Amino acid sequence: MAPAEAAASAEGASRRWAVLDRLRAAADASDFVPFDRFMEIALYDPAVGYYAAPRSPLGPGGDFYTAAHVTPLFAQAVARRIRSVRSDLGSSERFRIAELGPGDGTLAAGVLAALAADPAGYEYVVVERSEARAEEAMARARKDRGEIPVRRLEWLGEEGPFTGVVLANEFLDAQPARRLRWDGTEWVELGVEIGRDGLAPSERGLARSVPGAPLPPVDEPGTVFEFSPAAEGTVREIGDHLEHGAALLLDYGAEQTELVRGRPRGTLAAFRGHRVVEDPWGDPGGSDLSVFVNFTRIRAAAQASGLTELAYRSQAEALGAWGFPQLLEDAVRAAGSAEAQVRLRLAAKNLLFGFENFRVLELGAGAPAST
Ligand SMILES: C[S@@+](CC[C@H](N)C(=O)[O-])C[C@H]1O[C@@H](n2cnc3c(N)ncnc32)[C@H](O)[C@@H]1O
Repeated sequence: MAPAEAAASAEGASRRWAVLDRLRAAADASDFVPFDRFMEIALYDPAVGYYAAPRSPLGPGGDFYTAAHVTPLFAQAVARRIRSVRSDLGSSERFRIAELGPGDGTLAAGVLAALAADPAGYEYVVVERSEARAEEAMARARKDRGEIPVRRLEWLGEEGPFTGVVLANEFLDAQPARRLRWDGTEWVELGVEIGRDGLAPSERGLARSVPGAPLPPVDEPGTVFEFSPAAEGTVREIGDHLEHGAALLLDYGAEQTELVRGRPRGTLAAFRGHRVVEDPWGDPGGSDLSVFVNFTRIRAAAQASGLTELAYRSQAEALGAWGFPQLLEDAVRAAGSAEAQVRLRLAAKNLLFGFENFRVLELGAGAPAST
């Protein structure tokens, strides 16, 4: 083994032991950790969590791309939507764009660049729980921001109610999720059991209640049902602190009846190096974990929080409504060569058809806004 590989493998092994220690501390008397607690530690533990690592998980050198990495036109379309929310509000005063979970800051940088020509009144705040990602996002966002101030807030409500847009792209799917299984008679909680040799998927009787919307009726024993109390809490937080404006929530997911019927084994996925990892329990802290967003529960949480649903549609439809076709045609016309034009069209195709499970939920607060 080459020295660099040997060092990486020793580092991986010591991280695995450290994660196991954290999980042991979180386990109940039967060595069981429910899945949401497992996901919280594996992704966000400040010392050993996946998002805490210095290496960026996003982009070509990382583990996955988001739409923001496919083409800058994505961020430009988001920026157009932000401008239209602002103009609907008739707001000339301070208008905050609060991005939840900016990751490496690619989307932030693109939105800021698109707004830089007319910067008056905007401010951009990033709300990012990982120190490493916050530093990365701030550095990237500050490059092309023009005169728009960029700051970090610890949480959305840190400075009280505000007017603006809350933006969250691939944020909700990264929130710790509970996974339940219908055993034919009742629901059981899925999670992991910590043995002497490591982790194994396991289950226990349901010990915690499921607040909010009732669980969906299912016939098929073995059906897995997933939802994220943390993601629903985020929507409540938006309802509490966004006084006027809109929230743009872009993520992969579906309505819960579609999920339990169409994906009865659940949607948990792990990624490393742009590949699916077969065993999501195998390397906690070393691979990305995500679960489809249960939009039925997210929409119910939004309604209960006093937010108005402005639109719920596929990402391709939302991009269409936000002016993506025009942005593409303008970019193609301005492209310097036939090759650049082809690249633009290929990226657009990838964005519109490669993100087919993506939905966009637009929520309004205060004054009504168009879509
Ligand atoms: C999949 S990445 C998002 C990528 C980025 N939005 C983009 O469009 O490229 C999820 C990000 O959300 C952050 N995050 C997750 N939960 C958070 C929370 N409760 N508060 C702030 N940031 C959070 C993670 O640390 C990570 O950087």
